[in-house]
Amino acid sequence: MRSVDLIHQPVLLKETLGYLAPSPGETFVDATVGAAGHARAIAGRLGDKGTLIGIDRDATWLPGARETLRDAGCRVRMVQGNFSDLKEILEQLNVSGIDGLLMDLGLSSMQLETGERGFSFSRDGPLDMRMDMETGHPASHYLQHLSEKSITSILQKYGEERFARRIARAIAQARKKQPIATTSDLVNVIMRAVPHRRWRIHPATRVFQALRIYVNRELERLENALKDVEDIMNPGARIAVISFHSLEDRIVKRTFREKKSAGVFEILTRKPVTASDEEKKLNPRSRSAKLRAARKT
Ligand SMILES: C[S@@+](CC[C@H](N)C(=O)[O-])C[C@H]1O[C@@H](n2cnc3c(N)ncnc32)[C@H](O)[C@@H]1O
Repeated sequence: MRSVDLIHQPVLLKETLGYLAPSPGETFVDATVGAAGHARAIAGRLGDKGTLIGIDRDATWLPGARETLRDAGCRVRMVQGNFSDLKEILEQLNVSGIDGLLMDLGLSSMQLETGERGFSFSRDGPLDMRMDMETGHPASHYLQHLSEKSITSILQKYGEERFARRIARAIAQARKKQPIATTSDLVNVIMRAVPHRRWRIHPATRVFQALRIYVNRELERLENALKDVEDIMNPGARIAVISFHSLEDRIVKRTFREKKSAGVFEILTRKPVTASDEEKKLNPRSRSAKLRAARKT
């Protein structure tokens, strides 16, 4: 692994800061703190009376994030946890209301680039895909034990994969001979199952996305986190969510609209904000990013 691979560039940073508008003395939560790229910029605006709470379900990067925020200039609290438990996490920290919340969904570059985590079809490693290695089962477990029908529906629902049926059948056949234990095992099964043609994206892209979303229950966690999020937001507090695929963005859009109808939120982004051409060139991860922001009324 080259060290340059492990650099994570925060996506839509300027735009996110614009909507979140952190100011001195405020309390902010970065619920997906990762490498603390966004968090560092937010913390720098909170001043010595402000507080930044960083949360991530993946414990691996928290020490690095803590180090990055060491001279942030505000109070910093770091917690390993899931943003769907935000209310409980804040209760434990004795925080009754926050002024800003950021959720930058999906994976960091470091998670993707680390082969042992099994997130990337282009890196060989155990087929794990859990963001929190202490919870749940690795992806290989599900591929071994779920029915062919369930695998088909996971690939359709979370990957919108055209060849879901074929791929699920190939998985069911392959696992009879030998468990699908590594990312390469799975890539080989997929490559044998899908028709040969010119690919616009790698044939394993959607399958890996679908399994990751399923293994980490990503959509359920997002729905849970947003459900009553206004309860922990002070009046006037801002929320920004950056998503990387349409399934997530749909949840954010729908929830914000419901809260607007209920008179709880004012939506700050009429349309989702996307990266500039320049950012897309510099950071390929930003190409699919969509930012939505709202303010509690
Ligand atoms: C795109 S990265 C965030 C990068 C960060 N904004 C930065 O600038 O370094 C997403 C992070 O969210 C974390 N994550 C994903 N789902 C989560 C959840 N339900 N609860 C807490 N953290 C989560 C991942 O482990 C990952 O570290």
